Amino acid sequence: MSTVASAYSAAGEFYELVAERQAASSGPALAVALAGVDPTAGPVLEIGAGTGRITELVAREVPGASIVATEPATTMRAVLTSRIAADPGLRERVTVTAESAQDLAARLPRTGERFCAAVVFGVIGHLGPGERRALWSALDGALPPGAPIAVELMGVAAPRTIPPVRMLRERVGDQVYEWWSAGAPSGAGRMRFDTTWKVFGPAGGAPVREVTESYQWHTLATADLAAESGLAAEQVTEVDGHATAEIAILRGRPA
Ligand SMILES: C[S@@+](CC[C@H](N)C(=O)[O-])C[C@H]1O[C@@H](n2cnc3c(N)ncnc32)[C@H](O)[C@@H]1O
Repeated sequence: MSTVASAYSAAGEFYELVAERQAASSGPALAVALAGVDPTAGPVLEIGAGTGRITELVAREVPGASIVATEPATTMRAVLTSRIAADPGLRERVTVTAESAQDLAARLPRTGERFCAAVVFGVIGHLGPGERRALWSALDGALPPGAPIAVELMGVAAPRTIPPVRMLRERVGDQVYEWWSAGAPSGAGRMRFDTTWKVFGPAGGAPVREVTESYQWHTLATADLAAESGLAAEQVTEVDGHATAEIAILRGRPA
């Protein structure tokens, strides 16, 4: 398992507390990316599906499609599988695998598997430049001409210092959960993120426990993805006049 995937295994316990908000912010742009996808061309491939909130939206936006949802981190995948298994409609349509993006980039050119679209949300900055180029090439080879590769970029196009900020505070039962995040440049086109989940006892009481993780993130804008993939790219930052999470839509090369 990669370092990143094991980091998500620790903090994955808390991911559902933030996932609904993330899905609400990127859902409208995802709908734009997936409009007109032809489900007869193969399943939708979702890479780094996390706990499955985006998987639910993919299922809604491409009603006739089956979905292959890959997730390498065990804790995240446990929640994903639980979500899929609990919903008869998703259970029929979604196949969960433990593959990483790197595994897929190595495998797809060998197997010749076909997909109708790809969704890569909140994941791509975990891959280095060579890994991303291999992924774009594998996806381009596995999609019909013009089919979308929808990539959510996490809103960091260039390295910058982000002082510690509380991203979320939620009560669940008698406990309060806080999510803190900080970032700093860690090299050319890279940042180190430190995130901490803090759990407090009843009534804003004593700290119960803390889970901290750190990871490197390659900062990317839509133009970077277009340049390194050689694919046509468009950027979506608003839908119907409302701001959304920034999504890059790459499109498979014409035959
Ligand atoms: C920020 S979460 C996003 C989850 C989900 N896509 C969403 O938007 O709700 C990032 C996910 O990417 C996964 N991930 C990290 N490195 C990966 C890799 N190399 N290949 C595939 N997934 C990876 C993590 O395990 C985690 O579930």
